[in-house]
Amino acid sequence: MEANVKISTLIGEDQIKKRIKELAKEITKKFNGEPVVAICILKGSFMFYADLLREIELDLTCDFLACSSYFGKTKSSGDVKMTLDLAHPIRGKHVLLIEDIVDTGLTMDYLVKILEAREPKSITNISLLFKPEALKKKVELDYIGFKISNEFVVGYGLDYQGYYRNLPYIARVESMN
Ligand code: IMP
Repeated sequence: MEANVKISTLIGEDQIKKRIKELAKEITKKFNGEPVVAICILKGSFMFYADLLREIELDLTCDFLACSSYFGKTKSSGDVKMTLDLAHPIRGKHVLLIEDIVDTGLTMDYLVKILEAREPKSITNISLLFKPEALKKKVELDYIGFKISNEFVVGYGLDYQGYYRNLPYIARVESMN
């Protein structure tokens, strides 16, 4: 296999499922029947997004954007770029911004600023994973799935050099070649 690294389970499938149910319940309650635009930050969030949305009981519409800051490496380049924009305006709408992981916080900071300028009714953000020790930019997160230590993780949408996104659980990368 091309990305030949040693991995071990950090957060198992059942743990993820259980936490998603809890988060979805809180989000359903927060919006109290109001419609929401759920935004998936590609590519890493696709699996979390799909599983979370299936548990939320609200009138949801879906939209997608993509950002890049890693360019195939395991450390952020610090230079965030939007590589795919939303298909529809969000002005006057409740937005739920769904991220896989907040590491330096640069991506979330950048996206919240860009989206705020489009004058949505509100922005709520959620990240499945949060690495508090890696934070370079202070970001407010409304919902966090799991706090993890400052190590590189893969699986459940997250990749190392494009691989491992299809693992149904989250694994830590123990050694890299
Ligand atoms: P940030 O801008 O440094 O907070 O990083 C956000 C993006 O970096 C995430 O959406 C991921 O795509 C990627 N990323 C950060 N940490 C990891 C990791 O441990 N594994 C895989 N991707 C990561």
